[in-house]
Amino acid sequence: MSQPSEHGATAASSLPTSVPAPVPGQHEHSSLTKLTSGVAATGARGEMGEALLEVRGLQKHFPLTQGIVFKRTVGHVRAVDGVDLTLRRGETVGLVGESGCGKSTVSKLIVALEKPTAGSIFFKGRDVARMGGRALKDYRREVQIIFQDPYASLNPRMTVGDIVAEGWAVHADVAPRKGRLKRTQELLDRVGLNPDYVNRYPHQFSGGQRQRIGIARALALQPEVIVCDEPVSALDVSVQAQVVNLLEDLQDELGLSYLFIAHDLSVVRHISDRVAVMYLGSIVEEGTADEVYSSPSHPYTQALLSSVPLHEPALRGQKDRILLQGDVPSPADPPSGCRFRTRCWKAQDVCATDPPQLVDRGQGHPSACHFAEARTVVPVDVE
Ligand SMILES: Nc1ncnc2c1ncn2[C@@H]1O[C@H](COP(=O)(O)OP(=O)(O)O)[C@@H](O)[C@H]1O
Ligand code: SF4
Ligand SMILES: [Mg+2]
Repeated sequence: MSQPSEHGATAASSLPTSVPAPVPGQHEHSSLTKLTSGVAATGARGEMGEALLEVRGLQKHFPLTQGIVFKRTVGHVRAVDGVDLTLRRGETVGLVGESGCGKSTVSKLIVALEKPTAGSIFFKGRDVARMGGRALKDYRREVQIIFQDPYASLNPRMTVGDIVAEGWAVHADVAPRKGRLKRTQELLDRVGLNPDYVNRYPHQFSGGQRQRIGIARALALQPEVIVCDEPVSALDVSVQAQVVNLLEDLQDELGLSYLFIAHDLSVVRHISDRVAVMYLGSIVEEGTADEVYSSPSHPYTQALLSSVPLHEPALRGQKDRILLQGDVPSPADPPSGCRFRTRCWKAQDVCATDPPQLVDRGQGHPSACHFAEARTVVPVDVE
């Protein structure tokens, strides 16, 4: 069922070389020439294409062990406990939830850094778990990841040029050996870094620049999907916008699809076509970015939205304030029924016994709450 990449094999090789190098850290979009790879890019805000990634009933339970010599399993951390997601070509899906809810585990499962306990991941209709040899190698090239921490994710002993080119050691056919330096420089240029800096080390760059290096490393393998695991969470707000803009430009030009992970709904709103809200290992609400933002129907989504800072002083007083009580329960011992019930102000007896399904109960999009009801939390005209 696999289909050829729409990028073709020439996306990076057609990168412009005549673009003046921007000053690192002062990324200028206007100075960047559009790529001419012939991609029929739909872009994040255009019409969506075929389903590329389909995640069904995904679970990851980590064993909890006791003992030093004789380890015995005393329980399991249900980091991911039944996640369904679909990512279409050219689309961005935002995955949002508090720290510890299982977002990074989902991303590691998708890029095959972890093996699922149960459930499946299909890429263009093929089950990743059944892929072997060539197909798995192709998959590992086509689905790339950008990590949250640009300090930890780059090897401090490697030059930036070697970091960007590292993947070509395994996927040699993507970049012919002869033109690799030029290609690395083209990639650095494309992400807004000075191509003359190929021989510098990660510590010589700022946080935002290091994240650009991570993006160049992902692009080097000409992926179709990039899993962005909180790519801007560690950056200053002003730098966050620059990195998000770069990702959007790249999507428009290359037809990339993103799973964009964040713990804050404000970051994903503008970049996402659809948003999935995660709580304690599963998705509790899903819809278009506008549906989830304008008419959140799960109490957890409403609480998350109410904590998003508003930049318009005039609108601040209009926001519905919901303060979440208590801590996130342990994923090793999640509450029965609805997992949100220990913090939910609407909880009834049924919530302790019946796990709510993620379905549309008339609010226009799926929500895993027995009493789902759309509520305006943030004034709708807030942009
Ligand atoms: N390798 C692991 N072994 C045991 N527990 C893990 C492992 N990785 C993650 N966890 C646990 O799984 C849960 C989800 O973690 P994670 O996916 O990193 O969440 P998030 O990215 O949303 O912060 C957490 O409770 C975390 O401690
Ligand atoms: S199902 Fe019950 S506990 Fe869960 S979110 Fe809805 S009202 Fe709250
Ligand atoms: Mg994480």
